[in-house]
Amino acid sequence: MEEEILRLKAEALAALAALGEAGELETFRVKYLGRKGQLTGLMRMLGQAAAEERPRLGKLANDVRQELETAFEAKSQELAARAGGAGGPREDLTLPGRLVPFGRLHPVTQVMEEVCGVFAGLGFAVAEGPDVEMDYYNFEALNIPPHHPARDMHDTFYINETLLLRTHTSPMQVRTMEREKPPLRMIAPGKVYRCDSDITHTPMFHQVEGFLVDRKVSFADLKGVLTTFIARMFGEGGAVRFRPSFFPFTEPSAEVDIACVICGGKGCRVCKETGWLEILGAGMIDPEVFKAVGYDPEEVSGFAFGLGIERIAMLKYGITDIRLFYENDLRFLAQF
Ligand code: PHE
Repeated sequence: MEEEILRLKAEALAALAALGEAGELETFRVKYLGRKGQLTGLMRMLGQAAAEERPRLGKLANDVRQELETAFEAKSQELAARAGGAGGPREDLTLPGRLVPFGRLHPVTQVMEEVCGVFAGLGFAVAEGPDVEMDYYNFEALNIPPHHPARDMHDTFYINETLLLRTHTSPMQVRTMEREKPPLRMIAPGKVYRCDSDITHTPMFHQVEGFLVDRKVSFADLKGVLTTFIARMFGEGGAVRFRPSFFPFTEPSAEVDIACVICGGKGCRVCKETGWLEILGAGMIDPEVFKAVGYDPEEVSGFAFGLGIERIAMLKYGITDIRLFYENDLRFLAQF
């Protein structure tokens, strides 16, 4: 009997030492330590041993069980640690995942995409041009010759005699018309630069230029397109007003106002008590611009408009200081 127990112990320890992976542990446990295992079997047979031998054999069997259980425990931990890699603790797969903070589009980008989306829906194609622009495209071809007083409106950043940072997206009218024949229906989104900075001006801001050239385009078409745009952007039913204005590259020219989104037209600080907010400049493309690009003003006509994205974003969200867009304060940006 004693021999039997010791042999079983040696066999079990050898089997345990040979175990290579955690999956084999259970088979071992059932075979040697389980309720129907070999050691339990031997212990049941103790009853057949001589009465004076029984206490000694019983103690021996219990010691062996103790020793095997301790060795089994140690082996389990060793295999588990190995599975966890580099002896480290194992992953707790029940832990919730760690949240990665989620970025989002800048409000200016969001409004830019929304504006471009509305015009795309009206059949306008998108063109982009350089921020570093030639004086010719920014001014001259747009009917603003050197020393023309209209240049004073623009607070231009010059790079040298002939190069500058574009002060508006209107040069894209000229670049596109030089390259393509009418009919044209384009928008040109992008950055523009003016040497100006206060609560409603930043040295860099965004514009979307739009222009449509074909035969027999009239001011009514301009009104139709812009009224539709405003309705899609700010909601149906708001008042819109076309006010006579001046731009060297459009004739006639207009500035377009909408009823103040803050006070609904009653008058408040944001609309300076007028009840109206200016949102874009527009007009019929001046014959001088057509001549500069080689179009015949007797043959074609067209309209153009330019709108400021930050301004529209400020009106849409009731933001009173344009500089907030460029301070990169996440508490501000996360609200959009
Ligand atoms: N380029 C003008 C500006 O920046 C806006 C404009 C564009 C006006 C097209 C008329 C036609 O102020």
